[in-house]
Amino acid sequence: MSRTLNTEAVKKAGEKVNLFGWVNSVRAHGKILFFDLRDYTGLIQIVADPEELEIAGDLKNQWVVEVVGKVKERPKNMINEKIKTGTVEVKAEKINVLSKSETPPFELDDDGMSVSENIRMKHRYLDIRRGRIQNNLRKRNKVAQAFRDFLVDKEFVEVETPVLSKSTPEGARDFLVPSRKQPGSFYALPQSPQQYKQLLMVGGIEKYFQFARCFRDEDVRADRQAEFTQLDMEMSFIDRDQILELVEKMFIEVVEKVFPERKIKAKSFPRISYEEAIEKYDSDRPDLRDKKEELAFAFIVDFPMFEKYEGGWRSEHHPFTKPMEENVEKIKKEPSKISAYQYDLVLNGEEIGGGSIRSHNPELLEAVFEVLGHTKQETRDKFGHLLNAFRYGVPPHGGMAFGFERFLMVMLEEENIREVMAFPKTGDGRDLMMQAPSEDITKKQLKELHIKLDRNDKK
Ligand code: AMO
Repeated sequence: MSRTLNTEAVKKAGEKVNLFGWVNSVRAHGKILFFDLRDYTGLIQIVADPEELEIAGDLKNQWVVEVVGKVKERPKNMINEKIKTGTVEVKAEKINVLSKSETPPFELDDDGMSVSENIRMKHRYLDIRRGRIQNNLRKRNKVAQAFRDFLVDKEFVEVETPVLSKSTPEGARDFLVPSRKQPGSFYALPQSPQQYKQLLMVGGIEKYFQFARCFRDEDVRADRQAEFTQLDMEMSFIDRDQILELVEKMFIEVVEKVFPERKIKAKSFPRISYEEAIEKYDSDRPDLRDKKEELAFAFIVDFPMFEKYEGGWRSEHHPFTKPMEENVEKIKKEPSKISAYQYDLVLNGEEIGGGSIRSHNPELLEAVFEVLGHTKQETRDKFGHLLNAFRYGVPPHGGMAFGFERFLMVMLEEENIREVMAFPKTGDGRDLMMQAPSEDITKKQLKELHIKLDRNDKK
């Protein structure tokens, strides 16, 4: 007999079915035993008589079982409206225990909010069983698919870019990976695929996207993880307004497809200049909601190109952003007056995306690097690959990247980005389940990597 999923059993009253799943809340009513069986589709009530089925008396929560039994309609007054299969129950004829479970360290029937983060994360594989996390991960997949459908339909190509790479200036600290074959050399994990996607434009891809893993060694916060996913995009022969129109259309389509119950406040996303946002809302990511349940998107545009930083200048977005000034001398002379073709997407007070039109003129790019305090030589050493590439016919291009988990966090009404990730890190950047990062490396490994520790107590 092939497997019947719990929710499929609803339509099989009178039939014999073969169900698989976890035991959920065993209840004894006199001589009869009830329990819910949980599979990925939901719960179904199983009725078992321990006098007929000895094993039934032993069942405990979270055991994995196979149930063979007959589906029965429940009398009207016994219908359970709280579960999808509440109109039926299954009278067990056979129960096979496939694996037993110890008592879990916490309840799995609630939202888990009262359990300490450390205990939840240490046993994340159990935490994932709770309905809220199940729903979040399944919705995450639906949202990713909706973005993909939208973009592939418009002839965007998903291209994977390397994770072992070189530092790219997104403003955070890099994670470094030592090279065994090149003693003393290190890869950097990408803070974003920024330079690769621009090089793909030189390569003639024209419309690129990627669900890209990004790594930034910064303090973890409610809306920030050291390792996170961007929906990353780049396009050639496009201007700012075309990008913003496409992004607006994409988000409306995705929301309407996956979250049809949510109301978008304005389907033409307001465009607010950085200056106006600061003046009016004292924030470059204003929350424009009237009622708490709505989705208030907005584009923030016309950011300044540079910001003052310990006596020098740094880019407000990143140095590849195109200044709204083509005169190289003016850029170098009055950095504070230069605006940029930079834009953010804000949703309910969260910055969920950022992007820009890029400088495709190498001289412009070099002038920006000069303002940022790099000598010509340093610029060549660090970004020579990009400057070289730009000598071989570079199309004008621009793009944007969205914090995939930030968007999900708002849509799923979660307070912390961790709740929409399968295996997030704790506040201090640890994976308590895998025990990472770990000191569990041998002297041999360190030697191969040409690394000496300050604390030299390795086996
Ligand atoms: P930016 O650095 O603004 O731009 O990042 C884009 C979006 O990524 C999200 N984000 C994060 N989400 C979770 N944890 C983090 N630590 C984190 N950091 C950023 C935010 C942000 O808006 N390469 C450029 C994009 C471009 O110019 O096309 C970039 O990475 O939602």
